[in-house]
Amino acid sequence: MKERLQKIIAAAGLASRREAEAWIERGEVTVDGLVAHLGDKADPSSQRILVCGRPLARPASQKRYILLNKPSGYMCTRSDPEGRAVVFSLIADVPGRFFTVGRLDMTTEGALLLTDDGALAHRLMHPSFHVNKTYLVRVRGTLDRAATERLERGVQLEDGLTAPATVANVRYSSGHTWLEITIHEGRNRQVRRMMEALGYSVSRLKRVSFAFLKLESLQTGEWRFLSGTEVRRLYELVQLPWEKGNPKSHFSNGRQQTAPGRHQ
Ligand code: URA
Repeated sequence: MKERLQKIIAAAGLASRREAEAWIERGEVTVDGLVAHLGDKADPSSQRILVCGRPLARPASQKRYILLNKPSGYMCTRSDPEGRAVVFSLIADVPGRFFTVGRLDMTTEGALLLTDDGALAHRLMHPSFHVNKTYLVRVRGTLDRAATERLERGVQLEDGLTAPATVANVRYSSGHTWLEITIHEGRNRQVRRMMEALGYSVSRLKRVSFAFLKLESLQTGEWRFLSGTEVRRLYELVQLPWEKGNPKSHFSNGRQQTAPGRHQ
């Protein structure tokens, strides 16, 4: 069946539709040897589609890694009995069974990683690997020095004392305080509960970075595949000392070479 090229490329897991459109516009996509134009359709089962000179097919063994700028109002669950929107609907073009690396609350926005690589996701979520997550937080009122110090020391919650957080860029604007808080744990509603424990109510929460991955030009609701280099860096981040250079380990450099890039 013929479909628009950008849809076929996105479905193959090579790029978002927007990126695929840019490749087509730049003349980097050919169908049966002819340069394709935006709006062209093709049948991937019978036509030879090349993206940047490479066949479209993605080896089945390659895992996929997506950074999504999650909008508020979306749940990080596969389906919602109350019919609320779910983040998976935003990457519906990409075939395969993805899961989220940790969860963001329905009203939390920002950087969310999705992948079908269970081993990496498990480590990235595990607090022992100390993967930093930075949140932009808006609270009502003025955050005083004592509250900042408590965040930096650790806050007592019902499930225990939190690990010390880093607080940066505290600023005040029309009755609110904005701050950036970096934590490496991933407890349920952790930032909101930390602020509530100090007597502050969070009125906006956005994750601006996950490890070294920042949202940058990714607009709300948009997503992109991670590059091969980014995937390698994530692997390195959660590598155990004895896995370094061990080709038998999933987490060795050898494993990382199978990670996909934007259009590898
Ligand atoms: N902390 C929260 O309180 N909520 C989130 O969604 C993420 C971190």
